Amino acid sequence: MTIKDYEGKVSLEHSSGSSTEGTSVLFIYLSLIRYGLELLELLVNSLPIREKSKLDGTKAIRGGIPLIFPQFAKASEPSAETANLPQHGIARVSTWKFLGAVTDNEEEVSARFGLTDAQVPENFHKEWPKKFELIFTVTLTANTLKNTLEVRNNGTEPFEFNALLHTYYSVPISIKGLNEVTYLDKVNNFARIRDVKDSITIDQETDRIYMDVPKDEFIIDLGQPDGVGNFTLKKLNLKDTVVWNPWIKKALEMSDFGDDEYKKMVCVEPGTVTEYVKLEAGKTWECGQIIKVFALKSKLTK
Ligand code: BG6
Repeated sequence: MTIKDYEGKVSLEHSSGSSTEGTSVLFIYLSLIRYGLELLELLVNSLPIREKSKLDGTKAIRGGIPLIFPQFAKASEPSAETANLPQHGIARVSTWKFLGAVTDNEEEVSARFGLTDAQVPENFHKEWPKKFELIFTVTLTANTLKNTLEVRNNGTEPFEFNALLHTYYSVPISIKGLNEVTYLDKVNNFARIRDVKDSITIDQETDRIYMDVPKDEFIIDLGQPDGVGNFTLKKLNLKDTVVWNPWIKKALEMSDFGDDEYKKMVCVEPGTVTEYVKLEAGKTWECGQIIKVFALKSKLTK
């Protein structure tokens, strides 16, 4: 079990052989690239950084799990406190600090990253002059990746925010567990549509905000016989879930997205975005997700 911090890159290794790494120098992201464990391989292969993603700090990293705070998309209400912030807010374009290990034992290894208002670029801080602290905790076990995000209000007045974990998956998947949930269809002028299909399969431009999702756990289905390799995504204290794939035309328009990458990716993004969370001065709010890999058949029969 090891946690290393070298040249700003933090790597977590679990004794089972699984590992994950991220950077605290630029933006918080996780490029789950070095797992050695069969159980986690499919998950690992599913969260890489997009090949054309900019890593020089000029843009949010396209891959891993960019953190969206305090604004999802652009604020639709001009009166919102966050109205002048860029699309998806400031956390994904600010420099986080590695705060060190939390646990490091046989069961799990975890580390924390922090962002306060003092680390936010001046132009964004001016537009949202709140005193806040974010703590992002990454916990790895033999078959789960857990992320929690704590938001603290260090000011003297309440503030309002959205939060979302913009997780990029790179496998041809379908998602089960969003049936009977109403979504706002962003590619159809925000039409409200009730999803009655058993599972969502990505075969066209998809940009949906599933609202008030009652079930907290979904199955990410890799389409293998007997569900081998599938994983579950559990959202923690988050109401909504966004599902996004830019498909052909939008992919061509994005300079930091490979022209063909739309075929092997989808973002499944648990968040609270259809309303703002109001956080009183001195209080903390927490949310997160747990991604759990099912045992492969070969492992189960051993
Ligand atoms: C999704 C939004 O969360 O993120 C989409 O619903 C958006 O509308 C996508 O296009 C990517 O956003 P960005 O800012 O990373 O290009």
